[in-house]
Amino acid sequence: MITVKDIDIKGKRVLVRVDFNVPMDDKGDISDDIRIRTALPTICYIRDQGGKVVLCSHMGRPKGEVNEKYSLGPIASHLGSLLEDEVRLAPDCIGNEVEDMVASMKEGEVILLENLRFHKGETDNDAEFARELARLADVYINDAFAVSHRAHASVVGVAELLEEKGAGMQLETEMEYYRKSMESPIRPLIALVGGAKVSSKLGALENMLDKVDRMIIGGAMANTFLKSMGVDMGGSKTEDDLLDNAKKFIDTAEEKGVKLYFPIDFIAADSFAADAVTKTVTYRDMPESWMALDIGPATTIFFKEALEDAGTIVWNGPMGAFEMDVFARGTMAMCRAVALSQALSITGGGDSNAAIKKSGEEKNISYMSTGGGAFLMLMEGKTLPGVDILRK
Ligand code: 3PG
Repeated sequence: MITVKDIDIKGKRVLVRVDFNVPMDDKGDISDDIRIRTALPTICYIRDQGGKVVLCSHMGRPKGEVNEKYSLGPIASHLGSLLEDEVRLAPDCIGNEVEDMVASMKEGEVILLENLRFHKGETDNDAEFARELARLADVYINDAFAVSHRAHASVVGVAELLEEKGAGMQLETEMEYYRKSMESPIRPLIALVGGAKVSSKLGALENMLDKVDRMIIGGAMANTFLKSMGVDMGGSKTEDDLLDNAKKFIDTAEEKGVKLYFPIDFIAADSFAADAVTKTVTYRDMPESWMALDIGPATTIFFKEALEDAGTIVWNGPMGAFEMDVFARGTMAMCRAVALSQALSITGGGDSNAAIKKSGEEKNISYMSTGGGAFLMLMEGKTLPGVDILRK
């Protein structure tokens, strides 16, 4: 794949697709700026080479309407403070005013275009919208792994129009870790999967059966698998329409020689609330109408042992409702186990990354992917449109 380092960018206008779709708290402050920080190497490299950096991103899903709530204004200020330099926010992402602003840029200058999704043409991959974006650039760089699963105008359409294009350093690193973990892993390769729903991850789980040596399944999604094996899960959340798929998945794993690990005990609660009444129960004793909201202590040991000799660990999805401290113990224990492991460890998805942040173990994880949907799409064995187009 051609990267920004293979292109002569001196004096050129470089349109860089970044993913600055960062979580904001109630006060409108950025609560996690990892997606901004991981774009810094590419931005700094282009500046150092004398390129003009025209950044573009989406934020939220404003559905083609201008909505102040989704303005990239706070991001421009934050980026400016990280770069210790001014980052001007363009009033829009296309149009005459923006074209004039870009035309007057000096080498090394950085501007951020306003939210791409204020125009419907972005998500529709509209040809005219892509042409307008292309008018702002000589070179196109994709440094937005987290949105590379979307065939949108700023990800695919504009890349089709500009001859000089390549990957930024963040995208390159993401793809390198994907290759190391799923294509040529140090074995045993172990998948640790959790989160709320089987339905959103079934494709990834099925594909991973061809790649991994073991799979550990926790979180609410484990409930459906356990129920498919006849375990009474009380009032726990299950996806009953997927019980047959879950059973079939377990049979396929056995045929393929992939060892599966499911919870053997739980922290059960009488309601989904931080002040619920809780107790530790085995998988045989789930009280009627109570729900499993975390893995129990025996499961934690069982899962930790399964990870002990790992060569590579790929993790997506928490083990329980970790956002409530009372149900965070299992997920926190797995964060520590993965962090302590000598294995190459890769995590993806907003929830797993938030859990790792909560545990304070970020530095001990080999790589935390910035992608949620994009990460899962790779796990499903699919290629990303935003990466495919760079290879053409
Ligand atoms: C994400 O947060 O996963 C990316 O920014 C993509 O956002 P989207 O799901 O709204 O396309």
